[in-house]
Amino acid sequence: MNRLTGKICIVTGSGRGIGAAIARAFANEGAKVVVTDRHAESAKAVASELGCDFLRLDVSSEADWDALKAGFPHCDVLVNNAGVTGFEDAMRPHDPENATLEDWRAVHAVNLDGTFLGCRYAIGAMRDKGAGSIVNISSRSGLVGIPAAAAYASSKAAVRNHTKSVALYCAEQGLNIRCNSIHPAAVLTPMWEPMLGDGPDREARMAAFVADTPLRRFGDPAEVAALAVLLASDEAAYMTGAELNIDGGLLAGSAATPNASS
Ligand SMILES: NC(=O)c1ccc[n+]([C@@H]2O[C@H](COP(=O)([O-])OP(=O)(O)OC[C@H]3O[C@@H](n4cnc5c(N)ncnc54)[C@H](O)[C@@H]3O)[C@@H](O)[C@H]2O)c1
Repeated sequence: MNRLTGKICIVTGSGRGIGAAIARAFANEGAKVVVTDRHAESAKAVASELGCDFLRLDVSSEADWDALKAGFPHCDVLVNNAGVTGFEDAMRPHDPENATLEDWRAVHAVNLDGTFLGCRYAIGAMRDKGAGSIVNISSRSGLVGIPAAAAYASSKAAVRNHTKSVALYCAEQGLNIRCNSIHPAAVLTPMWEPMLGDGPDREARMAAFVADTPLRRFGDPAEVAALAVLLASDEAAYMTGAELNIDGGLLAGSAATPNASS
């Protein structure tokens, strides 16, 4: 219950979903959590539940990061969690042939630019102590191609790679600032709502989405938060530039796995 005692931990996009679960888990471990989200109201609600600070922060806005820096010039942990699929408002084509440049850029602005700006802020905010932990929430979609969500997959692949650049840069600088990525798949959060719908076929859709997942269920946000706690804590002192999959076994195999007789 005290793995993060005294650490200032900033979590982006923590007004709901995985980010809120991470903020909760950090608070339970004694952290001084700062809940941030582009929706001030949701950030405020989570912060009041946890009795911690909150700030409206759109991760794609450089000015918002500057404002965060003014209020929190030092931090020990930053979780770059805020992310969008691009399907929040409407289901539109995001495949490589039909995606619009506007939609492509909008997804990258949040997922990739937001993570770049967050890492840049965090390195500066951790430099005085010479230590800290940056946790980037990528996705299993950053490790494989996703034809129907090409912008999302591209942005998450770039997050995975940037994590390693940040890790190596900090090490080269003699800084004990670690940077690692987490790669969830099918974690039940509001992000899934546009894809699941609320019609009579919701249960069937849910089952279909996890039909190929070896553990045959959606993950729980708290299960992702447990990994974030590990990476944020000093228990992970020798981990940097690493990627942790949390996907019910999805990436352990391949659709082309030969059967026993072949
Ligand atoms: N849920 C999954 O199955 C899953 C799988 C892989 C990766 N992820 C990643 O986990 C992270 C959290 O996803 P989630 O499922 O909790 O999503 P969610 O949609 O439930 O929550 C995302 C949160 O981010 C906030 N947000 C969106 N754009 C923002 C911006 N520009 N600035 C600040 N905040 C912003 C939203 O307001 C919301 O509170 C995302 O990066 C997502 O890509 C989720």
